[in-house]
Amino acid sequence: MKFPYSDAVMDHFRHPRNVGKMDDADGKAMEGSPACGDMVAVYIKVDPENQKITDAKFESYGCASNIATGSIITELAKGKSIEEAKNISWKEATDALGGLPKIKAHCSVLAVEGLRSAIENYEERHGLVKDKEATTLEVVRRRLRKVMNPLTGLDVIRTELVKDITIKEGVISLTVDLPANHQFAVAIKEEILEKLETLWDVKTVAINFSE
Ligand code: FES
Repeated sequence: MKFPYSDAVMDHFRHPRNVGKMDDADGKAMEGSPACGDMVAVYIKVDPENQKITDAKFESYGCASNIATGSIITELAKGKSIEEAKNISWKEATDALGGLPKIKAHCSVLAVEGLRSAIENYEERHGLVKDKEATTLEVVRRRLRKVMNPLTGLDVIRTELVKDITIKEGVISLTVDLPANHQFAVAIKEEILEKLETLWDVKTVAINFSE
């Protein structure tokens, strides 16, 4: 059977490097693709002395292109400083894979964004954010656009699963339009907390459910 993928993509898809969860990660992020609803989690370990990435892992809930890009991006990130790794572009990742079909560009973007967000998470957790912007409703909405609504595969803002967002004196309050005992309630709550709790000027994130 002829696949529309390069040998490198097939190799990284069949034998992905650095797959798995990292329990003691220094930075981590879960990214969802608005284009297809798939997700990728990226974990990094960083040496605090020189800010170099000593280890990187990923878990993909996406397609072959996403798995291959997660594999190559974690390989490319290892040994780089967090500043260097931030600049790894999706072009660099896809070039290293010998190219991807155009229709699959968003899958590689997803993995690259996953790495950038894991670095951002590391910086936020370690007080390294330089250009500190105040947390506004727009900042919150932008972050939540990366949290998928598992009922639809689209993000929680676009599908209005999250509403009534307010920010007051470092406290973000919001409502998830699901009963608290819904099968996805805990997972969505955790993801929202992960995206918002590390914001430098946020003290508490209060999540209410609709019932
Ligand atoms: Fe969703 Fe590739 S189609 S990540």
